[in-house]
Amino acid sequence: MTNFTILEYPDPRLRKVAVEIDQVTPEITALADNMLRTMYDAPGIGLAATQVDHHVRLLVADVSEGRDQPYCLINPEIIAREGEVVNEEGCLSVPEIFANVKRSAKITVTALDKHGTPFELEAEDLLAICIQHEMDHLKGILFVDHLSPLKRRMIDRRLQKQRRQGANTAHQRSATL
Ligand code: NI
Repeated sequence: MTNFTILEYPDPRLRKVAVEIDQVTPEITALADNMLRTMYDAPGIGLAATQVDHHVRLLVADVSEGRDQPYCLINPEIIAREGEVVNEEGCLSVPEIFANVKRSAKITVTALDKHGTPFELEAEDLLAICIQHEMDHLKGILFVDHLSPLKRRMIDRRLQKQRRQGANTAHQRSATL
C-alpha cells in the first residue's frame, strides 16, 4: 500500500469535522497502520485522519526517540487536564511554519486502540501536546488558528512565497505534528 498524501493548509478539507467511529473494522485498523507509515515517512510525530482526507476520529502519534512507541487513538476524549505549557509546534499540513501554542501540560485521555480495545492514557510533555494538536485536527482546527490575526497574516504571506519558490525542505519537518 502506498502512503497517504497529506493535505496542506489552506485546503478546505482540513476544516471538516471528523465523525465518531462506530465500529473498529479491519478497514479502520488498516487505515491506522497506513497513517502510521505515512507519519513515520513524512517524518512527523503525529497525524490525524483528517490530514489524509479521512474524516473519522482517529489519530496516530509516536514521540519516542527510537520511533518505536506508536499510539493509535480512536474516538479520543480528554477527561482531565492539568497545568499549561507553551511549546513551539509545527504541522505536516502547514509546512515550514513553527509557532508557540498554549496547551494543557498534562491530560488524561480515553480512546479505543486500533483493535477496538478501550484504554486510558495519562500523557504529559510532548505526547500531551501532540494529542491535543491532533485532536484539534479532528475538529477542523489547525495550530495556526490559535495565533493572533497578525501572526496568521505573516504566516499566510510566508506560505504564498514558499509556494512560488517551490519549497523543498523536508529536513525541517522532524518535529512536526
Ligand atoms: Ni498537524
